[in-house]
Amino acid sequence: MSERTILFLPGDGIGPEIMAEVRRLIEHLNRRGLGLLVVEDVVGGAAIDRHGVPLHPDTLEKARRIGTVMLGAVGGPKWDSLPFERKPERGLLALRKELGLYANLRPAFTFPALVEASTLKREVVEGLDLVIVRELTGGVYFGEPRGIEEIGPGEKRAVDTQLYTSSEIRRIARVAFELARTRRRRVTSAEKANVMYTGVLWRQVVQEVHEREFPDVALEHMYADALAMQLVREPRRFDVIVTDNLFGDLLSDEAAMLTGSLGMLPSASLGDADQNGRRRALYEPVHGSAPDIAGRNLANPLACILSFAMLLRLSFGLEEEARRVERAVARVLDAGYRTADIHSPGTQSVSTREMGEKVVEALD
Ligand code: IPM
Ligand code: MG
Repeated sequence: MSERTILFLPGDGIGPEIMAEVRRLIEHLNRRGLGLLVVEDVVGGAAIDRHGVPLHPDTLEKARRIGTVMLGAVGGPKWDSLPFERKPERGLLALRKELGLYANLRPAFTFPALVEASTLKREVVEGLDLVIVRELTGGVYFGEPRGIEEIGPGEKRAVDTQLYTSSEIRRIARVAFELARTRRRRVTSAEKANVMYTGVLWRQVVQEVHEREFPDVALEHMYADALAMQLVREPRRFDVIVTDNLFGDLLSDEAAMLTGSLGMLPSASLGDADQNGRRRALYEPVHGSAPDIAGRNLANPLACILSFAMLLRLSFGLEEEARRVERAVARVLDAGYRTADIHSPGTQSVSTREMGEKVVEALD
């Protein structure tokens, strides 16, 4: 298997459409000798339709072996009535958990050309550049016990468990501090230490890691609700935000909207390095499967393309190629091409495919 093999999991809804545009980009890069190899498989609803489960063991095995995964999106109304454990989303969660992808990086930055697309004022979002580091394999997403039980006639009880160990907090804190060292050296850690024990431990451990290992980075602690407020009030004050699985899920959707559209935000989920020094990683846009516009050539492929740029950089060390892709996206936006989600008066509407083509053209 080539050093530069990628497991492609397009998934559901708009997933296949946006991933096709990444394919287009890969074919173009390969014509110039990049040597990327794509292996394709199914996950989520597509896997339920084919195998009856959202993540087939063979797909998981492939993901383990190949180590670098590019995912579109999972889920949709077609599978909504399935029991919880068999829903498409479980396939994605199992991938994250089984591959040990505990560090989810979600950068949010405004492209100058898109400042007008944000629902916030120009002076609030212009020049925004932050990264949310979300813990991805712990917390209430996975804590036991969980479930719904009958506790009497017509009465049920539902339980989810928010659970964190100090090692889980320590390793995600290190990722955040190390990332901050490559940026503006500021970390904001978010929890609810005022009401949750996990928040108390989170704050304590992040503080310890800071004092022992990263005194050169500025650290502030903030309650997650206050941070949600500050994110729309003064988002440019943030550099790196580190938080748990659930708060990270919420805050990253919020951060995405600052940049104009959920259709713009890429993400990388990373595990620890293996024997060969390679980190297992999964790249996916932050937006979901958008079933309402699926199959209509309307979706914005840019978050997926920007996730692919992160892949080039973080998994294959192709920094220059990654930058070229990012610059191409900026150029296409500067030239005024917009999918429906980022359309504003005076710009030119393009389809998913046209947007992908424009990015390829802008590469050279
Ligand atoms: C995300 C998504 C997922 C999550 C869903 C699809 C399981 O919202 O990646 O942000 O909640 O983590
Ligand atoms: Mg989410």
